[in-house]
Amino acid sequence: MTPRAAAVRPRIRVLPDHVANRIAAGEVVERPASVVKELVENALDAGAGVVRVSIERGGKGRIRVADDGCGMVREDLLVCLDRHATSKIRRAEDLRDIHTLGFRGEALPSIAAVSRLVIETAVAGEGAGSRLRVLAGRIQGVEDAARRAGTTVDVRNLFLNTPVRARFLRAAGVETRAVSEVLHSLALANPGTRFVFESNGRPVFDLPAGRDLPARIGAIWKDADAAGLIPLATQRGGLRLGGAVQRPDRARPGFRRAHLFVNARPVRDAGILAAADRGYRTTVAENARPWLFLFLTVPRGEVDANVHPGKAEVRFRDRRRMEDFAEASVRETLEGIESAATWGEPRPLRAVREGGKGDGGAGGGAGGPAGPRPGRRHQPRGPPPPPRGGGGTPRAPPPGRGCF
Ligand SMILES: Nc1ncnc2c1ncn2[C@@H]1O[C@H](COP(=O)(O)OP(=O)(O)OP(=O)(O)O)[C@@H](O)[C@H]1O
Ligand SMILES: [Mg+2]
Repeated sequence: MTPRAAAVRPRIRVLPDHVANRIAAGEVVERPASVVKELVENALDAGAGVVRVSIERGGKGRIRVADDGCGMVREDLLVCLDRHATSKIRRAEDLRDIHTLGFRGEALPSIAAVSRLVIETAVAGEGAGSRLRVLAGRIQGVEDAARRAGTTVDVRNLFLNTPVRARFLRAAGVETRAVSEVLHSLALANPGTRFVFESNGRPVFDLPAGRDLPARIGAIWKDADAAGLIPLATQRGGLRLGGAVQRPDRARPGFRRAHLFVNARPVRDAGILAAADRGYRTTVAENARPWLFLFLTVPRGEVDANVHPGKAEVRFRDRRRMEDFAEASVRETLEGIESAATWGEPRPLRAVREGGKGDGGAGGGAGGPAGPRPGRRHQPRGPPPPPRGGGGTPRAPPPGRGCF
């Protein structure tokens, strides 16, 4: 063979699924907290009323997430580990209007590829449940398992076949705190669901199901009462901002709690938090860092959730508009601090010029897509409803069973 012939021989091949899943795991499964995030999001999408999470050695030894959601029938259990197998979207267009926390069909196969995994699941009224055992992405067996409706996912020996990743893990205490943080975020966004967390067999917290954000914040942080939180509930155009912010006179330098949710999804976005901080302007000392719990609701088409492997970031079509809105919401809430001191309906912000066309402020209404979409099997959980006396409680308790 001439050197030239060797050069033109095709060299590209499509990787087998188990290799592709291992690659995806490298992005999706960074540490135990990312596994917990994915499994709890699945439980919430399944309409869980109670989510129980237990970990050992910071999740490095074991992670177990149990829910009382809708469960899976045997056929679904067998395909849920396939790459891009999902019950949550069907068509590319669905990506523009995502109502669930998951949508890629990537999390379970990724976790399974790098651990020893057991899933037990049952659907109410469908007879015996099923248990599926998987080792490093390969199915070891499936059998009947008597259990109540819901799903339990048990993950052991995370990164058993990716020793380099395992070496990057931090001490058990650090990983446990990261798991706690993830659970706090998801719990804030889902006050209608009870969250129980234990570590090494000992209870860490048990957050009862409640109706609103203040109760949930108070259940998570005992010092929240003293923090002086005031409700935030504003709207402008199709945008809504709910949640709570700290009274300026209570804001201190140093550590602060700041959580942002966009359409009920926990996200990181330094720009929006900085904009909210600007809303405090001269009311706080320059280095003071107020607590912020911001629930931003934006209409369909304004935000893309499909931009980050861990779904921890979103991209806005018009970022400037979001930041201006966040800043104005905080500023006007602080200006009317006495009248804002109850948890109520969103109030329209003063009119501003937005991209040249002032919208008069009051119009927009609820923000975000509303109502069930045609052709869905299940009742969509939908975007957060208008705040119900909770100053922007992000996500309603599941209406019946919201099973995706
Ligand atoms: N706890 C659960 N209860 C019921 N069904 C579940 C549960 N966990 C997973 N499933 C089913 O398995 C499917 C695959 O889950 P997986 O997390 O891999 O993908 P996804 O949630 O659809 O998308 P993403 O990868 O973005 O999380 C889900 O679409 C859902 O149908
Ligand atoms: Mg998922």
